[in-house]
Amino acid sequence: MSSEKTPLRRSQAWFGRQDRDGFVHRSWIKNQGYPHDLLDGRPVIGICNTWSELTPCNGHFRELAEFVKRGVYEAGGFPLEFPVMSLGETQLRPTAMLFRNLASMDVEESIRGNPIDGVVLLMGCDKTTPSLMMGAASCDLPTIGLSGGPMLNGKFRGKDVGSGTGVWQMSEMVRAGEMTMAEFSSCESDMHRSSGTCMTMGTASTMASMVEALGISLPENAAIPAADTRRKRLAQLTGRRIVEMVKQDIKMSQILTRQAFENAIRTNAAIGGSTNAVIHLLAIAGRIGVELKLEDFDKLGSEVNNILNLQPSGKYLMEDFCYAGGLPAVMREILPMLHGDALTVNGKTIRENVANAPCYNRDVIKTVEDPFMPAAGIAVVRGNLAPNGAVIKPSAASKHLLQHRGPAVVFESIEEFHAKIDDPDLDIDENSVMVLKNCGPRGYPGMAEVGNMPLPPKVLKKGITDMVRISDARMSGTAYGTTVLHTSPEAAAGGPLAVVQNGDIIELNVPERKLHLEISDEELARRLALWKAPEKPKRGWYKLYVETVQQAHLGADLDFLVGGSGAAVPRDSH
Ligand code: FES
Repeated sequence: MSSEKTPLRRSQAWFGRQDRDGFVHRSWIKNQGYPHDLLDGRPVIGICNTWSELTPCNGHFRELAEFVKRGVYEAGGFPLEFPVMSLGETQLRPTAMLFRNLASMDVEESIRGNPIDGVVLLMGCDKTTPSLMMGAASCDLPTIGLSGGPMLNGKFRGKDVGSGTGVWQMSEMVRAGEMTMAEFSSCESDMHRSSGTCMTMGTASTMASMVEALGISLPENAAIPAADTRRKRLAQLTGRRIVEMVKQDIKMSQILTRQAFENAIRTNAAIGGSTNAVIHLLAIAGRIGVELKLEDFDKLGSEVNNILNLQPSGKYLMEDFCYAGGLPAVMREILPMLHGDALTVNGKTIRENVANAPCYNRDVIKTVEDPFMPAAGIAVVRGNLAPNGAVIKPSAASKHLLQHRGPAVVFESIEEFHAKIDDPDLDIDENSVMVLKNCGPRGYPGMAEVGNMPLPPKVLKKGITDMVRISDARMSGTAYGTTVLHTSPEAAAGGPLAVVQNGDIIELNVPERKLHLEISDEELARRLALWKAPEKPKRGWYKLYVETVQQAHLGADLDFLVGGSGAAVPRDSH
C-alpha cells in the first residue's frame, strides 16, 4: 500500500506491523469477526458516536451508524464505531455545558490514541455537536460531521407545537392563569413524538446548520428529519465520502478556514440561529487555529436579514424547513454575502453546492429583499457593565425594549430568583431590569441556560410578555425575549455584574451597542474592592473546570485545550 509518495496511513502503525505488537493489534480486533483483509491498509474510519438513552435526541444513532458503515464498506474502507461521552441537554445537571469541554477531551484522545485514519462525527443534541467538533479539530484528521436530524413537528390539539419554545410559552400561560397544569402536562407526549433533536431553530438545529455552513457536512445535513429515510441515505453517502477524503487527505483544517467561519456567522444570522452558536463557534475556531472574535459576530452578521420563518422567532418548524428546501436554499439566497469559494467535504465549493438549490415554500424561506426580519444577527453590547462584551439576539427581543433604561432588580443566584419571582410583594414592574448573577462559566459552574428568566406573574397578568433581562448565563436556543447574555467578565470572576445593586439604573441601547450601569467610576471601583470571590470547588472535574475555563467572550474553552496537537501516532502501548 505504501510508496515514498504515499506515506503509510496512521492505522498501519497498528495493523501493518509484522511483530508482536502487530499481532496484538490485529488479533484482538479480529475477535469481533472481522476478516484479515480489512486490515490490509485500507482507510480505517472511526465513527464517533454520541448514542445514549440518556441523550434522547441521539437515541437513534446506533441505527444511523450502521448506514455510515454501509457507505464506508462500499467505498473500500473499514469502519470502527466508538462511543464518546454523550451530553443530553434535558437530563444532565447542573448543565450539559459544564461537560462540553470534558467530552471534547474524550473525543480528541479517543481519535488520537486509536488506529483511525478518518472520522465521522455523529452529533445531535446541543452540546454533542461542539464537543465533537472541538475534539476532532484538535486532531485535524479528515473528518465529516453527520447530524442526527430534527424531530418531526410536534402536534398538540391539531396545531404544530415546537420543542422548548412551546414549553416556555405554555408555562408562562400557566403562570398567568390562562392554562391549567393538567392541560400543560397533556402536551408532553405530543410535543416530542419521533426520534431526533429539537425541531425549532434552537441550539441543536442551529449547530447542525453551522456544521453544514462550515462545509464540514454534506449538503442538506441540517434539516432532514431524523425519521425521514433520506437521513439514512445521507449517512450512507457520508460513509462513502469519508473514505475518499482519507484517500485525498483532505483535513479538517482545509475546510474550517476563516472564510468558513465567516460563512457560518452570516448563515447563523440568516436563519435566526441561537446565541449559543457564538460561544461554540469561538471554541471550535480556537481549536483549529482560526482567529475569531466576539466582535466578528456583530460586524459580519448583525446586518444580515433573517430569511427563515422558524420558531422561536417565527412560525414554522424544521420539518417545514426541510420540505421548503433546507439550508442550501437559504445559503443560495445569501450567496453574494458568502465566500462561495470555500471548500466543503464533498470536494465542491459552497457555491457549487448551493447555486441552484431550489426553494419550494417562500413563506418558510423568504428572500433577502423581502426578509422575515431585517438586520437580525447577533449584536454585541459593551459598557462598564460588560467590559468584554455581552450578546443579545435582537430578532428574539421586543423592539421597544432595545433602547431601555430602568432600575435593577437583582438576583444573586437562580435559586434566589425562583424563591422570589412569584412573590406579589417583590418590588418589580415592567420597567425594571432583571439582573441575574453567578450563572456564568465559573459561577454556575458551566454557564447554564437560565438567562431567559420567566417574568413575574404580576407583570404577566397585565398582558406584558417581555422585559429586559441581563445575566452572565446563556439562553436556550428555543427561548426568546430581550435578554442580554454571556456578560463578560462574569460575576463569579469579579466582573462588574457582581456589584449591581437593587435600584441601580441600567441603560441598554442595542442600536448604540451599549450596556451601562449608571454609577460613577469611583463607586464601581469601591464596590469591586469590597467584592469577595466565591469558594472554588475542591476536587474532580468541577475543580479543573472552574480553575481553567475561559470567559464567555473567548468561547469558554479550558485555557490549556485551546489549539490542537495533531494526530501523530503516539508511542507503543506494549
Ligand atoms: Fe436535545 Fe434539544 S434537548 S436537541
